[in-house]
Amino acid sequence: MDKIVIEGGRPIQGEITISGAKNAALPLIAASLLTPEPQTLLNVPDLRDTRTILKLLQSLGVTWKKNGTTLTIDSSNLGQHEASYDLVKTMRASVLVLGPLIARLGRAKVSLPGGCAIGARPINFHLQGLEKLGVKIDLKEGYVDATVDGRLQGSTIYFDIPSVTGTENILMAAVLAKGTTIVKNAAKEPEIGNLIDMLIGMGAKIEGRDTDKLVIHGVNNLKSSSIATIPDRIETGTYLIAVGATGGEATITNCNPAHLPSLLEKLRGAGLHIKEGANTLHVSRKGPIRSVDVKTMPYPGFPTDLQAQIMALMTLSNGLSVINETIFENRFMHVAELCRMGADIRVDGNSAIVSGKGRLSGAPVMATDLRASASLVVAGLAAQGITEISRVYHLDRGYDDLVGKLARVGVNIRREKE
Ligand code: EPU
Repeated sequence: MDKIVIEGGRPIQGEITISGAKNAALPLIAASLLTPEPQTLLNVPDLRDTRTILKLLQSLGVTWKKNGTTLTIDSSNLGQHEASYDLVKTMRASVLVLGPLIARLGRAKVSLPGGCAIGARPINFHLQGLEKLGVKIDLKEGYVDATVDGRLQGSTIYFDIPSVTGTENILMAAVLAKGTTIVKNAAKEPEIGNLIDMLIGMGAKIEGRDTDKLVIHGVNNLKSSSIATIPDRIETGTYLIAVGATGGEATITNCNPAHLPSLLEKLRGAGLHIKEGANTLHVSRKGPIRSVDVKTMPYPGFPTDLQAQIMALMTLSNGLSVINETIFENRFMHVAELCRMGADIRVDGNSAIVSGKGRLSGAPVMATDLRASASLVVAGLAAQGITEISRVYHLDRGYDDLVGKLARVGVNIRREKE
């Protein structure tokens, strides 16, 4: 297993280019199962998670070609309908094949993902929504066995909580259903807008993009399309925070500032100077880091996927910051590791109270999930001394060329075999 070694304390200086979003690319790839016609996806990031979902598609009989960041997927030979435990256990987003498989083949057998490091993360909303569309769900031997007699039927679905992949699964099923489906309290994350754009390009009829009410008029079949994956807003946010943490100055390119309203507001409050262009962000920090309070919320609220990283930034302020996690019940696994680097953080239920100490010191650390690992990178970049981050496979899941991108902006960072 590899580890990342960072000699901290150097300000980031230069330009960082953002890759396509992991959480957009995964549903776009899954949506290519909906039709035998080939799909072209542009700006696809090279990540462990995108490779995992492609491996899953391959196990279903799908072929694909990747040329740089352009991916062409041909699912004309889709013959299998089973996503095995071996693949689903390594990436719970594999559950995204459920909606398209049932819509295209009338049958899907997908391993239940089980709990994960950040919470229980059930998929009951996905299953209840599919049942409303006429799917018969059998849960046995750890698998969801989903079947439908004939075609899916449009219906009205209400989500208790706006679920991101739940909304995506229902969208992908409903586009081929007979009649109209209405999704109420749908998630509004930009990644869903990206999926809707792809589906519309394929011939789907969907109204309500970017709102919490989606109306899907089912069509008989879908066609070939081409779509670009949106820039990764979480990668963008992670690098903005890293620049702020190191007191550096950088231009972040190929990003979409409009997708980060709450983060930009918080970072300005924390003392960062941020200039927004159409696809760029110029960020710098000269003065001290000010403490801000953060509460994670569904989009356009503060993203849970940036909670760990902003907590690392807050440990470097000289004030008190309360960070409230409302999306996942167990997403403070980075706290203990940040404390090993000198942070003072107390967890009380779903709140973390950070007493900024103005500095961190390097240490060997490890994390149990992707974004917690990213927060340790932020901390390591700002800390005095050497930080060694183990379990790099978490970062490989969601950050395209993290070490290369940071090494090119003046950071002393390398990857080593453990
Ligand atoms: N929930 C249920 N039942 C369901 C679905 C969700 O109770 O059937 C609950 C969850 O347990 C959670 C809340 O609803 O408390 C919201 O979860 P959501 O379904 O929106 O999360 P997700 O779709 O499983 C996606 C991202 C996550 C991101 C969350 C929240 C993908 C592939 N994953 O997960 O990304 O944290 O939305 O924004 O899009 C990451 O990239 O590190 C990551 C974890």
